[in-house]
Amino acid sequence: MTVHSLLGYALTVPDLEAGRRFYRDFGLVPRVDRDRLVMGCAAGDADPVSLTPGSGRRLHYVRFGVAPSEQAALRRRIEAAGARIVDPPQSESNAAFAVRDPDDNLIVVTPCEKAKFLDRRREMADREAAHLHRTGGRGCPPRDMIVQPWRLGHILLFTPDVDRQIAFYSHALGMRLSDRSGEIIAFLRTAGGSDHHVVAFAKSDRPGYHHASFEVGGVDQVGFGAANLLHKGWKNGWGFGRHVIGSNYFHYVRDPWNSLAEYFFDIDYIADDAQWQARDWPADDSLYLWGPDVPADFVQNFDAPAR
Ligand SMILES: [Fe+2]
Repeated sequence: MTVHSLLGYALTVPDLEAGRRFYRDFGLVPRVDRDRLVMGCAAGDADPVSLTPGSGRRLHYVRFGVAPSEQAALRRRIEAAGARIVDPPQSESNAAFAVRDPDDNLIVVTPCEKAKFLDRRREMADREAAHLHRTGGRGCPPRDMIVQPWRLGHILLFTPDVDRQIAFYSHALGMRLSDRSGEIIAFLRTAGGSDHHVVAFAKSDRPGYHHASFEVGGVDQVGFGAANLLHKGWKNGWGFGRHVIGSNYFHYVRDPWNSLAEYFFDIDYIADDAQWQARDWPADDSLYLWGPDVPADFVQNFDAPAR
């Protein structure tokens, strides 16, 4: 009994309109749902992001899925790990329950079947590869190419205690450590076959929200999507490059509140029966293989201390 996937995340933000513009430019499709703004992927995840009004930008909650048949057992597992079960937010009417992690982040658990995405990912990879065999056609995509992420891949949160978060997400939620770099950062996946990470934790003096990452259909879409955002006046985060841990191509752009949204392509996938060995990577060989130098503010925690 484990959570099987990351379903989404919710932020409170001081300006819903700024959020709507940013995520629309990023390629998601906004819709109003009562007093909140929900972002969908045009051809993929239903509502991975929701924004509700608040005095500052903060993580409101994270949503994970559990198989309906495992819901009760997962709840018992979480309680046995000593965590506090709480009521889910009213906006999450399908949720079974919620729990506070050791940093007081609200984790919402929703019963649903695990989404299958590998076939579609392979289709996209095959299309990329086929394109390289062209003879007599032009390879450069059109200038009006539309970049629309098709799924949420992962989120990264700050924490004052990386080991404590690894312990909670492993023991209470049944996730697995994929890789880490000392006490600085750790990457966890879900059991049962998963991207290399669906959640990661980076060391800070306080909890915070760092970034969310969305999958696009190719290398061009990572680069072109970010170039479009910069052209529209959004601030660069970091990229274009290739990560070492997780292996994905990446480009991060700053959202209106100094957190980051990432486009990714070609992340490692770890099958349930894979002989995967989690490594403890040296800090200077963990972040990227190539790309621009890491900006000084890339791992800065812009979240205010909890009141
Ligand atoms: Fe990422």
